[in-house]
Amino acid sequence: MKILAVANQKGGVGKSTLTVHLAYAAKEAGLRVLLVDMDKQGSLSLSFPSTEGGESGLLASRLYDLEAHQESPERIDDDLAIVRADKGLLSIDKAENEVIRRPGAALRRYARDFDLCLIDTPPLLGVRLMASLAAADYVVTPVSVGLYELAGVADLIQTIHVIRTRGFNPRLKHVGILPMKTNNRSAEEREALESLRAQYGAAILPEVLPERAPVRKAIARRRPVWVGTRGEGHLQAANEWRAACDSILGRIAK
Ligand SMILES: Nc1ncnc2c1ncn2[C@@H]1O[C@H](COP(=O)(O)OP(=O)(O)OP(=O)(O)O)[C@@H](O)[C@H]1O
Ligand SMILES: [Mg+2]
Repeated sequence: MKILAVANQKGGVGKSTLTVHLAYAAKEAGLRVLLVDMDKQGSLSLSFPSTEGGESGLLASRLYDLEAHQESPERIDDDLAIVRADKGLLSIDKAENEVIRRPGAALRRYARDFDLCLIDTPPLLGVRLMASLAAADYVVTPVSVGLYELAGVADLIQTIHVIRTRGFNPRLKHVGILPMKTNNRSAEEREALESLRAQYGAAILPEVLPERAPVRKAIARRRPVWVGTRGEGHLQAANEWRAACDSILGRIAK
C-alpha cells in the first residue's frame, strides 16, 4: 500500500476535491483505496456517505492512540473504505509532537488490504498535517495562484523539509505542486503562474486545473466531474481532471 497525502495549510485550495477525484480515478484503475479524513470539516465523509447501517468503524482520532484499536475502516464498497473524521481530532492539535508518528504506524496495519491510501488534511500547519506527512510516501500540494496563497507555498515546502530531515519521514516524496482553480483570463494569474514555475521549476506539475463550474456540480452530486458530462465546458473540465489524476497516480506508481 502506498500512502499519498493531499496537503496545503491554506484553506479552500481544492484539497478535498482533489482527494475525492483521486479516489474515483484510482478505483477505476482497479486499485483498492483507503480514505483517511484528517480534517474535522469532514469533506471526504460528505462525499462518501455510509451505504448501510450508518457510520461505523475506525475513526481518525483513534489513529493517534497508542494502544491498538479493534475497529477496522468502514467499508463503502468492495474496493473502497474510509477512516472518517471525528470530534476527537480537535484535541489532537493540543497533543505533543510525539503523537506525530502514530497514524503512520496505525495505517501500515492495513497495508495488505489496500493498494492506495489517500489522506485529506486540514488547512492548518499543526500536528495532524505533520502526522499525515509523516505517514505518507508521497505528498501532492494543490495551490491557488493568488498573492496570499502563493505566500504559503514556501511554508509548506519548509514543512516537508522538516518532516524529511528531522527523522519523521526521510522517504517522503513531493509529487509536486498542482495549480488549482486558476483563471486563464487573468493576466496577473498567468504571470503569477509563470513566476511560480520560474521559482520552483519541476516541482510545479505540468497540469493545471482551472476554476470550472462543473467541478462544484460534480461534488454536489457526489460523482467525479468526468461522469455524465454535458456540453463543451463540462467535457473540458472532465478531460483536465482525468489527465491530472492519471498523471499524479502515474507518478506514484513508478
Ligand atoms: N477546479 C475547480 N473549479 C471550480 N471549483 C472548484 C475547483 N476545485 C475546487 N473547487 C471548489 O472549491 C471549493 C473548495 O474546495 P475544497 O473543499 O476541495 O478545498 P480544500 O482545500 O479541501 O478546503 P479546506 O482547506 O477548507 O479543507 C469547493 O466548493 C470545491 O467544489
Ligand atoms: Mg478540505
